[in-house]
Amino acid sequence: MSDEKSFHMTPDEFRRHGHAVVDWIADYQSRIESFPVLSQVKPGQIRASLPASPPAQGESFDALLKDVEHLILPGITHWQSPNFFAYFPCNASGPGILGDLLSSGLGVQGMLWSTSPACTELETHVLDWLVSMLGLPEKFLSSNTGGGVIQDTASSAALCALLAAREHATHYASNRKGCNGRLVAYASTQTHSSLEKAAMIAGIGVENLRLVEVDDNFAMRPAALARQIDTDKRAGLVPCFVCATVGTTSSNAMDPIAEIGKVCRQHNLWLHVDAAMSGTAALCPEFRHLQNGVELADSYNFNPHKWMFTNFDCNCFWVADRKALIQTLSILPEYLRNQATESGAVIDYRDWHIQLGRRFRSLKLWFVIRHYGVQGLQYHIRRHVQLAQQFSEWVRNDSRFEIAAPAPLNLVCFRHKGGDVINQTIMDRLNRSGDLFLTHTKLNGKLTLRLCVGQTNTQARHVEKAWKRITEEAAKLETTS
Ligand SMILES: Cc1ncc(COP(=O)(O)O)c(C=O)c1O
Repeated sequence: MSDEKSFHMTPDEFRRHGHAVVDWIADYQSRIESFPVLSQVKPGQIRASLPASPPAQGESFDALLKDVEHLILPGITHWQSPNFFAYFPCNASGPGILGDLLSSGLGVQGMLWSTSPACTELETHVLDWLVSMLGLPEKFLSSNTGGGVIQDTASSAALCALLAAREHATHYASNRKGCNGRLVAYASTQTHSSLEKAAMIAGIGVENLRLVEVDDNFAMRPAALARQIDTDKRAGLVPCFVCATVGTTSSNAMDPIAEIGKVCRQHNLWLHVDAAMSGTAALCPEFRHLQNGVELADSYNFNPHKWMFTNFDCNCFWVADRKALIQTLSILPEYLRNQATESGAVIDYRDWHIQLGRRFRSLKLWFVIRHYGVQGLQYHIRRHVQLAQQFSEWVRNDSRFEIAAPAPLNLVCFRHKGGDVINQTIMDRLNRSGDLFLTHTKLNGKLTLRLCVGQTNTQARHVEKAWKRITEEAAKLETTS
């Protein structure tokens, strides 16, 4: 035994503190409804409560947990509160959290198959499971020409898809020589802003990202897409990529993938389908019609970290032709060479995304799928959709309010008929109250409130309370105006 002082946490200390942390999380889950959903702190308040300089000497773990309670919790917006109805959800669950903890415990860096075969093979396996769980085309299976990979976010998946499309269209010349400003990509005016960022990073250029017009339901018009492609081709440009969305962020609009896909096939364009939140609904066969035509997609992604109880971050991305993706992103420096890679018998996921290093994210996804089973997941997705549909019924039946867009799943876009100021005031007051958290969008130039049911523990009583609070605030404004 060496007498040398170690600053490390021993396995016994880790066990003790680990139990305390798990207890803390379990307590947090049971008292989560007691906190204001939207953090009420002012800018700078959290930093002002922290010491100006780091500790010279290590502190007790108890002190750390106490500070989480007193200094950090006030600055938390409670995404896991059942009264969280803002944005799209970012839900989590016990099995997901524990899977993530195990991933940290193993501390694996799975850049190559050989740096932890289980990290690669479990991921391939779970993504193949999901192909059948979601009714996706078989070409996405690893046993076929395609395969799936876990990315951090839908933004990264879109960037990888666009890069592969760029290389496909230029016969891999732009990787060597850079872009020449003639490549064009297409999305709708409602497509998530990550596509704009992808166009910037991929060297397509934002001016070469065409935002195609949408119909009255905020879905892309395939005829307008076809017209724009013709115009660009006549101008000597090179169309290469289309992004269609299953469930836009603003209003959950469903782009008609079958028709868009036909246009893509006609012009040999890469079709990427972004189903970031709503893809989870495909777990239930009755919602799969929303992505009819998905068999025409070259790539597809959804975020289990949004609506499938798998804590952030976890994006599942599939390609129909893995060779195109690998050829786009593969570089093999000497120091990464190894026999397994040379044999060609393994997947090295470092070739499937931007970064080299990667965490063991499939563990948490595997835990979630095995804990809930397909039936458990379907049960909760159906329940969320039912609750949102019930809410939209209440809105429809109240003459002071109107529905602002179709609500095919779990997002309801609605507004008070009194105009933007009233809607803004209702939202601000609700969010300040801490009782619930809602966010907004603009549809046809009008401020619109969005209520998205997707938090793991949201039940009927939470949605009922939300509607009660919304109508209470509306009534207060009506009597004062
Ligand atoms: C349709 C859609 N695509 C992409 C994204 C970006 O998601 P991420 O944070 O995973 O990049 C979102 C986020 O809400 C989204 O709604």
